[in-house]
Amino acid sequence: MNSKKTRAAIVGTGSCLPDRVLNNHDLEKMVETSDEWIFTRTGIRERRVAAEGQTTSDLGAEAARRALKAAELTPDDLTLIITATITPDFVFPSTSCLIQNKLGAHNTGGFDLSAACAGFVYATIMGARFIEADPTQTVLVIGAETLTRFTDYTDRSSCILFGDGAGAAVMRATSDGRGVMASEYGVDGSGGEFMKLPAGGSALPASAETVAKRLHYMQVNGRETFRFAVVKMADLVTETLEKSGLTMDDVALIVPHQVNSRILTAAAERLNISMDKLYCNIDRFGNTSAASVPIALDEAVRNGRIKTGDVIVLVAFGGGLSWSSAVIRCGFFINYSSLLLYSFWSHFFCFLCFVSCFCCWFCCFSWFNCCFCCWFCCCCWFNCCFCCWFCCCCWFNCCLCRWFCCCWFCSFCFCCWFYSCFFSLGRSFLNFFFLVLSANRNQT
Ligand SMILES: CC(C)(COP(=O)(O)OP(=O)(O)OC[C@H]1O[C@@H](n2cnc3c(N)ncnc32)[C@H](O)[C@@H]1OP(=O)(O)O)[C@@H](O)C(=O)NCCC(=O)NCCS
Repeated sequence: MNSKKTRAAIVGTGSCLPDRVLNNHDLEKMVETSDEWIFTRTGIRERRVAAEGQTTSDLGAEAARRALKAAELTPDDLTLIITATITPDFVFPSTSCLIQNKLGAHNTGGFDLSAACAGFVYATIMGARFIEADPTQTVLVIGAETLTRFTDYTDRSSCILFGDGAGAAVMRATSDGRGVMASEYGVDGSGGEFMKLPAGGSALPASAETVAKRLHYMQVNGRETFRFAVVKMADLVTETLEKSGLTMDDVALIVPHQVNSRILTAAAERLNISMDKLYCNIDRFGNTSAASVPIALDEAVRNGRIKTGDVIVLVAFGGGLSWSSAVIRCGFFINYSSLLLYSFWSHFFCFLCFVSCFCCWFCCFSWFNCCFCCWFCCCCWFNCCFCCWFCCCCWFNCCLCRWFCCCWFCSFCFCCWFYSCFFSLGRSFLNFFFLVLSANRNQT
């Protein structure tokens, strides 16, 4: 692997799910089905439904704000927005234009990408290509859907599957080995009939008749897509890994399109891997088409399933038929402003220690006792040598200043020992707080 090569890394992720939950028991009241049937056949327990008036662009814009926050960038840093969706607010203007306006991003281009469930991974590959061609680009890729607006709640075989939501990722150039290492994509239009939304396009414009025949709702041939998905997912992962020069042993996590837990289990068997290697959240969100991979990715980043240096595979497939996958090496996103803040507070506490030591300078009784206690005080030791180990700024600050404070000044005074332990404890809490913060910002 050439670590000097410019690649596109994901530097921040975000997601947004509507508040309203539609669970299987709610569906039991709408169609002839049962929680047991739905869960055993699909792995879905519940899904989210957008509130009245809440649109695909609303969900996409909120996911984008969260991704920008995680990347510590502003909307004006963006140069391109690619929104993958099959449920846009309008045929035109594009959802990317609406999101650009909602974000207040003034320096960006944008367009929508239609590749059904494979859309977000397509957008990620496309974003990577833009960045490789021009490393100054900052690309926002979004997968956003309000599928429930196009779901026929009289068709029990399809209405149990879909949910609403959005996920986003900010991509930038890196040459440190992180980024999109290999990708694959394809389509097979001969399978277009398996999943489609028949009316509302130029082939069958909206009319009273199309509405009466419920042709503005999605139609899904579950069995055919099931077969296609199992084979395609396993083959795609294998081919993309081969292209990247890596093997399955190098992969920490596969983040697949959340289509059906049985499909994921069957694909895992074909790949000869355990289910632990597949991220699965379909039980809570159902199939959210282009939004499913970025929602799962954001969740995996935030709950620590993806760590520094991990290789992950994004893989998706769906209507079209279409498919896409990407092998990505993840890295630790260095959060400089948190580091500065951390450094400031560390110095502040050191200063307090110093003041307390200095004040007590004149109080010289039992200095030997103090020196001895201080030396063995695990609080100070832990704080100085262990926690601060994680941060080079603080390491310097800690091992030099604190050593100086604790072991030299404090050695003269028992009071200081108390103070330094007290402040050390404070610093330990602070260390812990910032370590948790950094862990939450562990971006791909
Ligand atoms: C839809 C899906 C769950 C159906 O599961 P399945 O095991 O293939 O079920 P089948 O379609 O073979 O139907 C089996 C039976 O259950 C019935 N059934 C279908 N939906 C049902 C429901 N919600 N509740 C109870 N029974 C149901 C069928 O009518 C059928 O009955 P029959 O044998 O008397 O005709 C499954 O095929 C699937 O998840 N496919 C992927 C679809 C998808 O998500 N595509 C989107 C893009 S990737």
